[in-house]
Amino acid sequence: MATTIQKPRGTQDVLPKQIAIWQYIEQQLRETCTRFNYKEIRTPMFEHIELFKRGVGDTTDIVSKEMYDFFDKGNRHIALRPEGTASTVRAYVENKLYGETDIQKLYYLGPMFRYERAQKGRLRQFNQFGIEALGSFDPMIDAEVVALAMDFYQNLGLANIKLVINTLGDLESRLAHRQALVAHFTPVVEELCQDCQSRLEKNPLRILDCKVDAKHPSMATAPKIIDYLNDESRVYFETVLATLTQMEIPYVVDPTLVRGLDYYNHTAFEIMLDDPNFGAQTTLCGGGRYNGLVEQLGGPATPGIGFGLGIERLILALEQQNVTLPITDQLDVYVMGLGANAKTASAKLLNQVRQAGLSGEMDYQGRGMKAMFKAANRVQAKYAIILGEEELANHVCQVKNLVEATQETIALNDVVAYLQANQ
Ligand code: HAM
Repeated sequence: MATTIQKPRGTQDVLPKQIAIWQYIEQQLRETCTRFNYKEIRTPMFEHIELFKRGVGDTTDIVSKEMYDFFDKGNRHIALRPEGTASTVRAYVENKLYGETDIQKLYYLGPMFRYERAQKGRLRQFNQFGIEALGSFDPMIDAEVVALAMDFYQNLGLANIKLVINTLGDLESRLAHRQALVAHFTPVVEELCQDCQSRLEKNPLRILDCKVDAKHPSMATAPKIIDYLNDESRVYFETVLATLTQMEIPYVVDPTLVRGLDYYNHTAFEIMLDDPNFGAQTTLCGGGRYNGLVEQLGGPATPGIGFGLGIERLILALEQQNVTLPITDQLDVYVMGLGANAKTASAKLLNQVRQAGLSGEMDYQGRGMKAMFKAANRVQAKYAIILGEEELANHVCQVKNLVEATQETIALNDVVAYLQANQ
């Protein structure tokens, strides 16, 4: 036998027996977006790398280390998208969506790519759902964005979720904070990792997000943005929090929360699974405000806020909490033809059943009656239709209700109507 080829590290096959969960989650996401009035946008899975690598200041792992990039046959430097915000903003600018309405509320769902150290809940190709609200700098919309994510998780029946929120302030506040960070870390810079040494100059805020130096004593005493906010930023944040309280959405303010992408300002949040059994990966959802990104990508000054949530991590959390989703994987009908003519007639009948909007299956393996009943049970058919040569001669069939174990003889011409009436 030829050697088998396996999927690349950090990727997953979603098999038919798992697909119902995926489809249910996707359907819930779309339904949630309909209720909150967000419209879907679909952008390419690859983009020019400059969209994500926007300048020397970007010192995040996602952009500087984890990008899947390559030169295509036309020698263009391409990257598989590591996230959806930059792509959405690019499409917003390129298609002048800002001219259509004053506010665009968008959502997307699809694979993202990051060359990460693969482990449970951390993949190199993962699926992300995200929303982006572009065109409003109103604390109510920050609260709405958070509310959408919380609403979705709660409707699924996920327990022990915790909203952690912080503000990164506006530019003025962040510059003041930055100065304080530089002053704080400069005396100990030699003790920090190579990356942090270069972060000190380029983007000292990123030091707080360093996995290597997380336990260095200087981390715990680092200056917190909350102490450097100007009045406007502080009032904005307080209004976001007050709105969440009004909406009865519990939150925890974490002044050390720093997100893994560089475009954030003002509101930043994560939704964590607060469950000690879950293991290393606990962030289910992350997002925040990114006023300035639209201008950076060539559009008019437009504020924006959004979040992204991973579907694979969500499924792990649902499995771990043994949440049963209301998934029905039942077929309406299993049609059994016994004998050559009856088999042809059953193919015809099954086609009529399907055309009428019902779901159905028949045997294609030449199996006998007993095996066909087993197959009908396997697909959880509600009805079995039995069609033998004798029934065919009389233009009837037996319709067996497999749930209630009752059986009736029905004229072939009436079967579809009978099934429709008895769903
Ligand atoms: P992010 O925090 O990088 O934010 O990713 C959001 C979510 O995607 C994470 O909380 C996690 O559930 C999932 N995720 C990220 N990386 C992986 C991975 N390697 N394997 C599995 N799941 C993963 C963003 O991507 C921002 N674009 C969110 C945003 C939208 N901010 C504003 N608008």
